[in-house]
Amino acid sequence: MKKISPVSRSGRFARGPGADVVQFTESVSFDWRLWRHDILGSLAHAAMLRKIGVLSKAEEIAIIRGLDQIGREIATGKFKWKPELEDVHMNIESELTKRIPAGAKLHTGRSRNDQVALDLRLWLRDEIVLLLGEIAGLQRALVSLGGKNTGVLIPGYTHLQRAQPVHLAHHLLAYVEMLERDCERLWDCHSRVNVCPLGSGAIAGSTLPLDRMLVAKLLGFVDVNGKPQLTQNSMDAVSDRDFAVEFCAAAALLAVHLSRLAEDVILWASIEFNFIKIADAYTTGSSLMPQKKNPDIAELARGKTGRVFGNLMSLLTLLKGLPMTYNRDLQEDKERLFDTTDTVRATTRLMAAMLRNTKINRAACDRAASDPALLATDLADYLVRKGMPFRQAHHTVGAVVTLAEKSGKPLNQLTLAELKSVDKQFGRDALGVFDLQRAMAKRNLTGAPGTKEVAKQLARWREQLS
Ligand code: ARG
Repeated sequence: MKKISPVSRSGRFARGPGADVVQFTESVSFDWRLWRHDILGSLAHAAMLRKIGVLSKAEEIAIIRGLDQIGREIATGKFKWKPELEDVHMNIESELTKRIPAGAKLHTGRSRNDQVALDLRLWLRDEIVLLLGEIAGLQRALVSLGGKNTGVLIPGYTHLQRAQPVHLAHHLLAYVEMLERDCERLWDCHSRVNVCPLGSGAIAGSTLPLDRMLVAKLLGFVDVNGKPQLTQNSMDAVSDRDFAVEFCAAAALLAVHLSRLAEDVILWASIEFNFIKIADAYTTGSSLMPQKKNPDIAELARGKTGRVFGNLMSLLTLLKGLPMTYNRDLQEDKERLFDTTDTVRATTRLMAAMLRNTKINRAACDRAASDPALLATDLADYLVRKGMPFRQAHHTVGAVVTLAEKSGKPLNQLTLAELKSVDKQFGRDALGVFDLQRAMAKRNLTGAPGTKEVAKQLARWREQLS
């Protein structure tokens, strides 16, 4: 086989690299994914080179045609990637130059250092938008599940012990809030991804009169007012991967939220809770135990969190000791970034699909929520309304709970006489506290799990997500 020497070695090097070196240093086996964005960047660069007179009109047209043809071949799987040419950038450029002489002018004023920074930013920008779409889908699935089950109450838990009753929708909307913060963080990250590094060259810009503004505008690197966003320091621009770290950090927190949701789903799907039933298509069986239906999607969502955290740590470690500016170490950023985007996007999508195919077991929820002990705090509030200091009320209700336990009765079955034996201030209306519907009507503070407030929040989210 004839050895192909990368263009970066022609002139200076006597021969191409050895096979083991090629294998160790290549990145095309994974960075080929950037091809669409690499071509977009080259088209904008070519348009700019034409404007400043480096390319003739005919040369620009030939380059556009050539890149378009290569793009079609890649999309249909016909393009032959060559590891000897290292990466996606050199594969495309070298193929273009083979086909079109003007291809040799395309790299004018450009280095792979600013090119790869550009491609990554363009790629990540699209990925963020796609991920935001998936997150909105999951939010909608949560709102819809809550909306379909209005009136369903469950115990809210602290320390995984039954605490106070909440509407199921309130519990689900807690995740909608978390996911909304994830969206805000991702949009914030997007604003720093959306800055054009092209024109920074290898490290020190170019002596040619490149029109950076034009490239930025052509590639949509503009703020909300349409103002082009350019990196302001060529050394920073070629070695900066903060935007990738920021994305991986935001994704790690998203993964935390997905994992917590997964954990609730896993608990709720157990016979012990039995609050939900996940449709067969979204559960798996056991190879040994015929009765099993396992919530594997949720378990994998929880499990995949590990790699998302790991990717963030890898990126931080990759960057911490790098001297200025570009170092080949940076090639290691891609697989970590790709893995994080793939993982959180798929997990978000699958969690949404699973929730859309999950039914609430109302009877089991009702049974759990009707535990009168959940309203012990309401009984203390009753005494507070009678003028008792809360600390004393807390102590008094504690004694009532002990009495109920000793007499083997649920809290709401105690007689007025029994209540009065603990404290004289208990009146006839005391047992009314255990009316669950009334108890839920009273919880009407902003953000509280009361019936009216939850309906209001559901309506707010429906509107916001429509
Ligand atoms: N494959 C390289 C990367 O992903 C592209 C930039 C290479 N630049 C260089 N001077 N070797 O980082």
